[in-house]
Amino acid sequence: MGQRPFPPLPPAHNLWFMESGLDTHLDYHAARALLEWQVELGVTEAILDVPVNRYDLPDTGPKPRRAASAGATAAPVVQTRSVDPVAEARKAAEAATDLDGLRAAMAGFEHCDLKNGARSLVFSDGNPAARVMVIGEAPGRDEDRAGKPFVGRAGQLLDRMFAAIDMGRDAQMSAQSVYITNVLPWRPPQNRDPKPEEIQMMVPFLQRHVEIVAPEVLVLMGNISCQAAIETRGITRLRGKWHEAFGKPALPMFHPAYLLRQPHAKRQAWADLLSLKARLGQG
Ligand code: URA
Repeated sequence: MGQRPFPPLPPAHNLWFMESGLDTHLDYHAARALLEWQVELGVTEAILDVPVNRYDLPDTGPKPRRAASAGATAAPVVQTRSVDPVAEARKAAEAATDLDGLRAAMAGFEHCDLKNGARSLVFSDGNPAARVMVIGEAPGRDEDRAGKPFVGRAGQLLDRMFAAIDMGRDAQMSAQSVYITNVLPWRPPQNRDPKPEEIQMMVPFLQRHVEIVAPEVLVLMGNISCQAAIETRGITRLRGKWHEAFGKPALPMFHPAYLLRQPHAKRQAWADLLSLKARLGQG
């Protein structure tokens, strides 16, 4: 007989949903599945069934302060504080001295809205002593669930690509290992493209990540990674040519997700992997 992983919650704790004017009684598991589906679609806020008129609520917020020298008619002083998220990110990133510190600094960064809709902060995978650091775009659904970069279909292809040149994230020897991260540590809703300002505010963390890991070379997977690291897009033109990013030699390549959609481009990706291997052979 099939058993649920958890016993159903007592009726008092079950959830009720209003649907089309009808009360539908859902048990905990059904309600949770519905909620997860909505998060999957990009829902980031819950609203109540009945609108709230916040003008009618008692005012418990801070009162505007009056200027000290002004008379009774003086206008209230409204305190505005404009935060520069890129400067904040730079300050937080530069204070980090190791990977744990950097992860904590990113977890404490409150200026990127993507954080609110994501389940996990996806930081990195692989060997931090690796000679090669791969920079992808952002976590997708599978990565958000696993808390690790490149674990879905694109990630499996990435692993096969590196295995073809005898390298991989699980290799113990630094000569064979790769270290993997993304420009953004949080999944964008519905896997939309990251916005330019989201990329910009996370670049200081990426730069510090490269400084701390100190790999010999970077591999920039796709346009978002190129935008963040070399401030240029146009992967078809950029791929296969060595650039410099964050003071390291950097090789733009087609993103594995693109290769899944356009398998004919794997020939060029293979040429790029051979270029990477040749470069490492010179080291
Ligand atoms: N695509 C990326 O760029 N990064 C991931 O972690 C997964 C898919």
